[in-house]
Amino acid sequence: MRFLDVIKTRRSVRHFQNRSLSEATLMSILEAGCAAPSAHNSQPWRFVVLRGEKKDALAEFLFSVSREKRYRSFTGFYVNRLLRHSARMIKEAPAVIAVFNAATFMSKVERYFPYSRREILHTMEIQSVAAAVENMLLATHAQGLGAVWLGVPLLIPQELIEDFFKTRDELMAIMPIGYPATMRTVEKKVDLSEHVEFWG
Ligand SMILES: Cc1cc2nc3c(=O)[nH]c(=O)nc-3n(C[C@H](O)[C@H](O)[C@H](O)COP(=O)(O)O)c2cc1C
Repeated sequence: MRFLDVIKTRRSVRHFQNRSLSEATLMSILEAGCAAPSAHNSQPWRFVVLRGEKKDALAEFLFSVSREKRYRSFTGFYVNRLLRHSARMIKEAPAVIAVFNAATFMSKVERYFPYSRREILHTMEIQSVAAAVENMLLATHAQGLGAVWLGVPLLIPQELIEDFFKTRDELMAIMPIGYPATMRTVEKKVDLSEHVEFWG
């Protein structure tokens, strides 16, 4: 596929075939993630690949949070439902990449920045990790596979995420990946005039 066609025909895939992914395919997707640009080349991303029982445990974790009454007031019913949808996608996909911000940019350069400006460093880390996620979504689609960027799990209280992943890194995305069960490669109609201004 031509590169621009890859970009234009990528769509979020939320239903997956019961078919495993080869190690080589997964590695090529992770390599695409690591090839992203990053602030000061800090490469602040960290990827955890979950498969088999570990992946199913993540789905069960999301299911259980979505059922817990004490988190209803935090997440609300609607988000609980989205968490259950996310859990279903994680269960269905053969592999999931959990994407973290390991804050390597912040730790390298924060001493050069006044405290009041440090939030900018965090913003740049998020931008860098987001570029890596988009690279992986495109690399996935270019190989005839599908994926979706799940942000809803970020609403789970931080201490529960830390408990499950045994890390204090900041969760940025959960990406179920697999062979699409349905094809949704219809090009999105983009009205450039809504998003773009030409100055000069
Ligand atoms: C930061 C971010 C968070 C997202 N979170 C979710 C999510 O939690 N659940 C979901 O089904 N899709 C999620 N998506 C996918 C969007 O819904 C999707 O990209 C958007 O509707 C456009 O559709 P497309 O990806 O098919 O072009 C997320 C996308 C982004 C960029």
